[in-house]
Amino acid sequence: MQTAAPPVQFDRDAYVDLLKRSITNYHYLGQEASFEQFRCVSHYDMDQSEWKIDRSVQPTTLLRKGQLDLIEQAVVAIEAARVPGDYIEAGVWRGGVIILLRALLGAYHIADRRVFAADSFAGIPLNTRAQNDPVDQWSDRWVAGLDEVKRNIERFGMLDERVRFVPGFFADTLHTLATERFSLIRLDSDSYDSVETSLEYLYPRLSDGGIVIIDDWHLPGCRMAVTDYRDYFGITDPIYEHDANAYWTRNGRNPLPGLV
Ligand SMILES: C[S@@+](CC[C@H](N)C(=O)[O-])C[C@H]1O[C@@H](n2cnc3c(N)ncnc32)[C@H](O)[C@@H]1O
Repeated sequence: MQTAAPPVQFDRDAYVDLLKRSITNYHYLGQEASFEQFRCVSHYDMDQSEWKIDRSVQPTTLLRKGQLDLIEQAVVAIEAARVPGDYIEAGVWRGGVIILLRALLGAYHIADRRVFAADSFAGIPLNTRAQNDPVDQWSDRWVAGLDEVKRNIERFGMLDERVRFVPGFFADTLHTLATERFSLIRLDSDSYDSVETSLEYLYPRLSDGGIVIIDDWHLPGCRMAVTDYRDYFGITDPIYEHDANAYWTRNGRNPLPGLV
C-alpha cells in the first residue's frame, strides 16, 4: 500500500537563517564563535587596511547577525502595517544586505516592492562640511565595484529587475529618486557628509510608518549628521538602538518593540 508523501513545507526561518550565515561567510570563517558573536571584521587588519583572509572568502556584508535580524524585523513590521514603498540601502559595499532584502521579498511573498542599491562603488568621499571626522582616514577601506557587487548578488541568484542600482556619489545621484517612495531606508555610509546627504534626499521619500535604520550610530560624524538633520526638521520620533544600530519610525510608534 502506498502512503501519500507529506506536503512539502517551506521552512522560511531556516532559509533566512542559512542565508544570513552565507552572506556573512560565518559558515566558513566562524570557527569557535557562535553566530550571535561572530564579527567578520575580526578578519580585517584595520592598521594595514587589508583583509587577513583570501579575497575569495571575503564576506558580502560587514553586518552581524543582530543587525541582519533588525532588517528582517523591519521588513516584517512594514509588511504587517502595509506601509507603502520600496527598500533602499545607501552604502552597500559588497551587496550582502541587498542580497538579504531581495531574498526576504521572496521568503515573505512580497510581490510589490523593489530593492534599491545606492553606492559610489568607489568608496567614501572626503567630508567637506564636517571637520575631523575620523572616517576621512578610511575613505578607501570599503570599496567594491559595481560589477563585483552585481556578481555577488548574481551568485546568490538574487539579481533581477527588482534590484535597482543607483551608482555614483550620493550628492550626484540621490536626487534622481525624487519621485520614488520608500518604506525602509538603511543608511550605511559612515561619514557625516554621506549620512547627511542621504537623509536630505531619502528621508522626504519615506512613507509615514516607514523605518529608517542608521548603521553607524557608534561613529561620531554619523551620529552628529542624524542629530543635526532631526533637529533642523524638528523630528522627534523616538530613536531606538539595537546591536549598535539605531532606528526610528517616521511619524509612528516603535514597530519593533521586541528588539529593544
Ligand atoms: C561601510 S560600507 C557599507 C557596508 C555594507 N552596508 C555592508 O552590508 O557591509 C560604506 C559604503 O558606503 C559607500 N559610500 C559612502 N559614502 C558615499 C557617498 N557619499 N556616495 C556614495 N557611496 C558612498 C562606500 O562606497 C561603501 O560602499
